[in-house]
Amino acid sequence: MVVLVTAVDPSLKLKTYPDILNLQWPFDPVKASYWTNLPHHRRTPFAVSPDGQTGYLAYLDANGTGVHVQHIHPPSMTSKGPDVTIPKVYEAAGIVAHNHGFALLGNEPIPSTTSDDPPSGTDYPEGTPVPAIYRYANGKQQWKTFVAGPGVHADDGLSMAPDMNGDLVWSDDAQLYGAYFVVTDYEGWAKGHFGDSIEYVNDNGTLETIEGASNSWGCSHNTGIAFEAADQPPFASICAEDQGAIWLNTKGTGMSTGGVKISKENTTNGGGGEAMGGMSGSYSSLARFINSTSYIFTWASRGATDLTENTWMGEGYTNAANRTNGRRVAMAMFSDKETKVGAVASSEVGATSGDEQVNWVTPTAGPDRSNAHVAVFDDQYALVTYEEIAEPSCDFIAMGCGGTFTGTYYQLVDNTGNKIGQPLKSMDTYVAGDMVTLANGTICWPYVKMAWQLDQAVGGYGGAAETTTKKMSFACMSLV
Ligand SMILES: *[C@@H]1O[C@H](CO)[C@@H](O)[C@H](O)[C@H]1NC(C)=O
Ligand SMILES: *[C@@H]1O[C@H](CO)[C@@H](O)[C@H](O)[C@H]1NC(C)=O
Ligand SMILES: *[C@@H]1O[C@H](CO)[C@@H](O)[C@H](O)[C@H]1NC(C)=O
Ligand SMILES: *[C@@H]1O[C@H](CO)[C@@H](O)[C@H](O)[C@H]1NC(C)=O
Ligand SMILES: *[C@@H]1O[C@H](CO)[C@@H](O)[C@H](O)[C@H]1NC(C)=O
Ligand SMILES: *[C@@H]1O[C@H](CO)[C@@H](O)[C@H](O)[C@H]1NC(C)=O
Repeated sequence: MVVLVTAVDPSLKLKTYPDILNLQWPFDPVKASYWTNLPHHRRTPFAVSPDGQTGYLAYLDANGTGVHVQHIHPPSMTSKGPDVTIPKVYEAAGIVAHNHGFALLGNEPIPSTTSDDPPSGTDYPEGTPVPAIYRYANGKQQWKTFVAGPGVHADDGLSMAPDMNGDLVWSDDAQLYGAYFVVTDYEGWAKGHFGDSIEYVNDNGTLETIEGASNSWGCSHNTGIAFEAADQPPFASICAEDQGAIWLNTKGTGMSTGGVKISKENTTNGGGGEAMGGMSGSYSSLARFINSTSYIFTWASRGATDLTENTWMGEGYTNAANRTNGRRVAMAMFSDKETKVGAVASSEVGATSGDEQVNWVTPTAGPDRSNAHVAVFDDQYALVTYEEIAEPSCDFIAMGCGGTFTGTYYQLVDNTGNKIGQPLKSMDTYVAGDMVTLANGTICWPYVKMAWQLDQAVGGYGGAAETTTKKMSFACMSLV
């Protein structure tokens, strides 16, 4: 007798570890976003070593200078030491875990005695910071390599990072770190302009310039980065630019039409709707399925209508109006690091619709969704998460919205872009640091247990009160 077994899709199980980890130093969990000053979670980069023995949690000291990296025992999420402080660093923008140490992407000022150092400014009297990768083993620094600033791609102009936003990845196959980050140039043709840069550093700390992969200047006024390792450079990369598109730019590295146009977005004043989280976002937006060449990407979008000519950029580029007031969450699948599954976004001037190709995770318009992230469980299933404001007030074109927080949602999806079941809703967890897939397929991430408020700007007139904490919480999602 032949027994037919029907495959049953799994469902989600959330486990929380509230206030489990004591931080040695205070941390300010809120960061004001670009333009609106609306609150974002300040990212706490998180990674777990391949042997599963050590988790690394990075956070900026509440005084604004110095990044702490706390070593964690993953099954219990409690401290295991040695804790490391990297002084003078202004933001933690990504971490990679190894079996006996970690590499961190941060930014720090360069002494004014160095020639070609960046200018100082009111926010940065000691000099505008420059991004660097810091490699530690057994609690000791092995090397530090600047990935911009004096002497780095000098022929193309010199870059600094006043707003550190980006990500750091490591490829075991390529034996390379890749860093993708937002920059401002202070010398050269792009002086005074915001863009982005992709740089590669090898295991001994040497900056390598790789043809077709390294890039001194890519997407104009990049407002969001998604970056994931590949077996060989170029690594898988996505940018949100200020001209109206989100690009899978693995091939082409910038915003050229040689890349793949994933989505059309309404843009204004360098904003693109905070598609990948905006300020302090740019992590866990792109994930590679285990044992696979496929990737999944998630972002928040207002959709696109009424495509008009982009006279500045010319053919292949269009401006777009937003279809909705609040944002919806979308996902896209890539069969490999440079190929999108299904149609790409329209570039047709005069088209009334510019978002037919989008696979919406939240098809209904009305609420605003933000802080979209994704991680994979295995070779087949992934977790998409986002926050919701049921009745948003979106006072700024192409920026974030304010209003009462009405929950974090966790949606199970599969590698063909299907949603499975209803999303799980949680009022007291959110994603505020990297979502990490453990060896057994459980996905864990850090957050700060607090009443999350999205209705007021940070600080200033009528703004939300600044708070600091010395506790960190974790949440884990498994398939059951
Ligand atoms: C801020 O904290 C860092 C890290 O603990 C420390 O090195 C630095 O001295 C502190 N700065 C001030 C001004 O307190
Ligand atoms: C996976 O491992 C983590 C860390 O050891 C543990 O907390 C979790 O319960 C495990 N998940 C499953 C489904 O066994
Ligand atoms: C570091 O790597 C570079 C490039 O592979 C190589 O040329 C150099 O010799 C290495 N340096 C050390 C100290 O291993
Ligand atoms: C963005 O949308 C607004 C309407 O909300 C529109 O006025 C503006 O022209 C659009 N921006 C671009 C660059 O098309
Ligand atoms: C476009 O976005 C702006 C700003 O959020 C909003 O005021 C406007 O109503 C939106 N347009 C549509 C058609 O929803
Ligand atoms: C990935 O491949 C390895 C080696 O074949 C295997 O042990 C592991 O179970 C695979 N993982 C998944 C999620 O398929």
